[in-house]
Amino acid sequence: MKIYRSALLRFADDGQAVYDSDALLAVAADASGRQRVVAAGSWQALADQYIQREGVEVIHLPGKLLAPGFVDMHIHYPQTDVIGAPAPGLLPWLENYTFPHESRFHDREYADGVAEFFMDELLRNGVTTALAFATSHPASVDAIMTAAQKRSMRMIAGKVLQDRNSPDGVRDDTEQGLIDTEILINRWHGVDRLGYAITPRFAPTSTEAQLRGAGELAAKYSDVWIQSHVAENLDEIAWVKELFPAARSYLAVYDDFGLMRERAVYAHSIWLDETDRQLMQSTRSAAAVSPTSNLFLSSGYFDYLKADVSNMLYGLASDVGGGMSFSPFRTMQAAYVVGREGHAKQGQSLSPQNLWWQHTAGAARALGLGGVIGNLQPGCEADFVVINPACTPLLERKTAQARNLDELLFAMIILGDDRLIEQTIVSQAK
Ligand code: GUN
Ligand code: ZN
Repeated sequence: MKIYRSALLRFADDGQAVYDSDALLAVAADASGRQRVVAAGSWQALADQYIQREGVEVIHLPGKLLAPGFVDMHIHYPQTDVIGAPAPGLLPWLENYTFPHESRFHDREYADGVAEFFMDELLRNGVTTALAFATSHPASVDAIMTAAQKRSMRMIAGKVLQDRNSPDGVRDDTEQGLIDTEILINRWHGVDRLGYAITPRFAPTSTEAQLRGAGELAAKYSDVWIQSHVAENLDEIAWVKELFPAARSYLAVYDDFGLMRERAVYAHSIWLDETDRQLMQSTRSAAAVSPTSNLFLSSGYFDYLKADVSNMLYGLASDVGGGMSFSPFRTMQAAYVVGREGHAKQGQSLSPQNLWWQHTAGAARALGLGGVIGNLQPGCEADFVVINPACTPLLERKTAQARNLDELLFAMIILGDDRLIEQTIVSQAK
């Protein structure tokens, strides 16, 4: 058993932050060998019970903060090298930068190289789980799964389905794409900590036959994830209207093909109407809110107020390479600013505790992994970060002046980046 002594941040079931400035976090292997949190709470209350036990190693980290590993609900690993590609909007960005770049991932060796870098970059930024797009090439999935497995990470990924309106090099074949998806589900889903996500890129690049097949697989493999994009950009929405004239809305296209259910995650979800939000809520589908991407591509603002009224699930995501950074701190910063767009008009804003929750326990809940990752309550898998709140002169100065938890978290959200993450610890199996 390992006992950590440090400040500790975790979350109650209702999303409230729980903070102990001098805490004990006990981590030990369960019967299957997986490392989990055994105890978490104030040092004073728990130390007597735990530090006397045999074989206990105590790790004292004065001045540091332990917090749950971050969960990135939407990211494209093949777009690691696409970050910062300027374009007037989503569709030219895809055509001119993203599709040509993704065509390189048919080459397993190339994909392995990017996947290795990507995984290290996630960990360097404190991200321990991501729901990731690969490309349309099955080899690209083998590459990311292999890289995640090597690091014992809980990673969810899938082969992109895109059988139309896509150039040579990334376009797949309707039937073959579905056959490959099923092969990859059987190869990777549930292996160690890996999960598979059925991944139609977005409605405009899949035929009805491919979407129907994806929906059939989603019904057959009910604990597999589904990921796609929806209602990101106004030109994209107009295109969907042309391609699916009978659908009630863009989101309804996915519903029509059986692609909305628990564990379905729709990136962006900016331009939804009330009926769409109800559909998200009633199907327990979740939105992946990607504020740095939405700002970079000038897509629009996620409406937090309306999302909360509808009680739909959502959480934060980087959306690299539309997104501007791997760092959850940069994503939370942008979410705060974007949240002001709606809330400020009502004299409110997103709280730092809520922003942090959206990128940890809230994101885990939205992925159907509440109580498993994204938190440090007893029973959770032991994925966590060691944060150094004094990692820069300004952060040292600012966090030392924090009078309460909100001020401490806010200082890190507004001023922070990868430098805050001193160490990322991933739950190992025996
Ligand atoms: N819509 C379809 N594909 C993509 C993508 O790769 N990135 C973003 N941001 N939106 C998309
Ligand atoms: Zn995306």
